[in-house]
Amino acid sequence: MSSFRATPYRRALPFLLALLAAGCAQRASSPDMPSASDDIFTVSASLGRGVNFGNMLEAPHEGDWGRTISDADIDRVAHAGFSTIRLPVRFSNHAGTTAPYRLDSDFLARVDHVVDRALADHLSIIIDFHNYSQIVGDPLSAQESRVEPDVVDERFVALWAQIAEHFRDRPKKVIYELLNEPHKDLTSDRWNVLLKRTLQAVRAQDPYRAVIIGPTGWNSAKDLAKLDLPNDRAIIVTIHNYEPFDFTHQGAKWVEHTPPVGTKCCDEKQIARLTAPLEIAAAWGKEHHRPIFLGEFGAYEVADMDSRAAFTLAMRQAADKRGMSWAYWEYNSGFGVYNPKADQWVWPLRDALLGPELR
Ligand code: BGC
Repeated sequence: MSSFRATPYRRALPFLLALLAAGCAQRASSPDMPSASDDIFTVSASLGRGVNFGNMLEAPHEGDWGRTISDADIDRVAHAGFSTIRLPVRFSNHAGTTAPYRLDSDFLARVDHVVDRALADHLSIIIDFHNYSQIVGDPLSAQESRVEPDVVDERFVALWAQIAEHFRDRPKKVIYELLNEPHKDLTSDRWNVLLKRTLQAVRAQDPYRAVIIGPTGWNSAKDLAKLDLPNDRAIIVTIHNYEPFDFTHQGAKWVEHTPPVGTKCCDEKQIARLTAPLEIAAAWGKEHHRPIFLGEFGAYEVADMDSRAAFTLAMRQAADKRGMSWAYWEYNSGFGVYNPKADQWVWPLRDALLGPELR
């Protein structure tokens, strides 16, 4: 008789196993956890009114672009009446450059902190893989990790396998977004292959969670026609809309051919330009039976405030009218709905998004 069989451990074993089984069953059956019976249209609608926490965790390192996320920021957007934070994260700059491309555990702990705080505030939170410059062929910024070009796609898949493994036990209010704005070298042919490989890696870890995927052309509605999705029903399709671009990006130095300053918004023609991409997306969504999420829209601070408020209201109403949940770009930088220096909401923008009744 081995000493193990004679010890109290043996007597405790059945209880421990029963406890473990009960724990697993509870986790799998909890209504808060992703499950096979989730209706993706309901999940998408639950995103409701969102705001992007831009220019923070998707800088090369948090703080490089002048802003960091505080718990108070998360609480503030929840109390104001937003229901979702879209969290852009530059995972690609916090991971090994050779296989197995290990994600930095301190950085993951930082993302955990933000996710936990959002969940404690009853918010949904979208973990958005943002600014992987090398995968689209954009110039790398200073302090950005470069890898051998032939392993870029493989590394992206490996990073997602780790992200999904890390977050798979989180409630369904945590949602993944595979990649912000594929463009340039990430052509639709390459993206259609890569998104399927990546989703497969995610599904091996996390089979039922909602995953947001958008088309090429910086998530432009007109590229939806080129988007080829796998037969997976837990996908929400995203588009971004900055039309009329000459208005929203006037004076924006980071875009090619910066539009001149001084354009106002929104006359009838501009409203038509603003709604056209939403029309395309709504029709595509209907045809393909996929919910649509408007993941970014906003107007840069250089435009006059009345015009920015008019644009924001028109866009928000256009999305609401078509049953699309949305996230405004962004919280506290150049498009910000909150002014951190004055420690105040930018009221015309906040009212346009949430309605003055939520003041
Ligand atoms: C980019 C930002 C940019 C914004 C509007 C986002 O997707 O990541 O850098 O400010 O679009 O142009």
